[in-house]
Amino acid sequence: MTAATINGVQYHYIDAGEGQPLLFVHGFPLSSAAWKKQIKPFQSSYRVIAPDLRGFGDSEASSGAVPMTQYAEDLYVLLNELNAGPTVVVAHSMGGYVALAFARKFPEMVRGLVLVNTKAGADTPEAAAGRRKSAEQVNADGPKSVVDGMLAKFFSPSNKDSALVNEVLDIMGAAKAPGVAGALLGMAERPDSTGFLPQIAAPTLVIAGDDDQVIPPAESKQLADGIRGAKLQTVPQAGHLVAMEKADEFNRILKDWLGGLR
Ligand code: MLT
Repeated sequence: MTAATINGVQYHYIDAGEGQPLLFVHGFPLSSAAWKKQIKPFQSSYRVIAPDLRGFGDSEASSGAVPMTQYAEDLYVLLNELNAGPTVVVAHSMGGYVALAFARKFPEMVRGLVLVNTKAGADTPEAAAGRRKSAEQVNADGPKSVVDGMLAKFFSPSNKDSALVNEVLDIMGAAKAPGVAGALLGMAERPDSTGFLPQIAAPTLVIAGDDDQVIPPAESKQLADGIRGAKLQTVPQAGHLVAMEKADEFNRILKDWLGGLR
């Protein structure tokens, strides 16, 4: 991992391989470690860039709400620091919310979009209120009091891989309280991106998990339906962490789609 100060915050990131850059953006409350099963296989043909977003993994946290546009601006500065031109943004869940903010603000930097277990819609008022309450709880009792409870919904009911569950617990354990609270507040205030989808000109692949209990596949389908020419791939027996749970299948889908971009 390498470090750089991005918009006043120390960011840690992986930068490996050469060629067309692939920017892997993790979900909440994870880190670049969630892409472990993608980094090696893709770095032999691509330049793989995988940051820990501010407040997650090894990256420093900032205080207060972190809007999705803030993460997007961080990614823009990071890509410029690294002299990486237009990238294929591969983004999971909250990372997908960030990727949509990035594509809206910096369309010239997007060579392609791969939106994984994510959606375009905003939170309902009830969901946003729940996130604000969770943020207060994180500030009072620490991140574990909130994030460990998310774990049960992350996996497909067919998953019996306890090593993977422990790995995800470890990844979540690195998230800092202000990072988790800031992301919760940022997600609560994010706008609905549905109206933006027709403006996306970049080739887009949407990957869903058939058993995703956090973002049901129907919401990923709506996302794909809103983007001109987007391809939707739904992975059977996969939950919210399709790239970890069904890594081989995920990598095959991504590799085939990237091959068509050349
Ligand atoms: C994520 O996986 O990034 C989050 O669960 C997304 C969300 O809570 O909306």
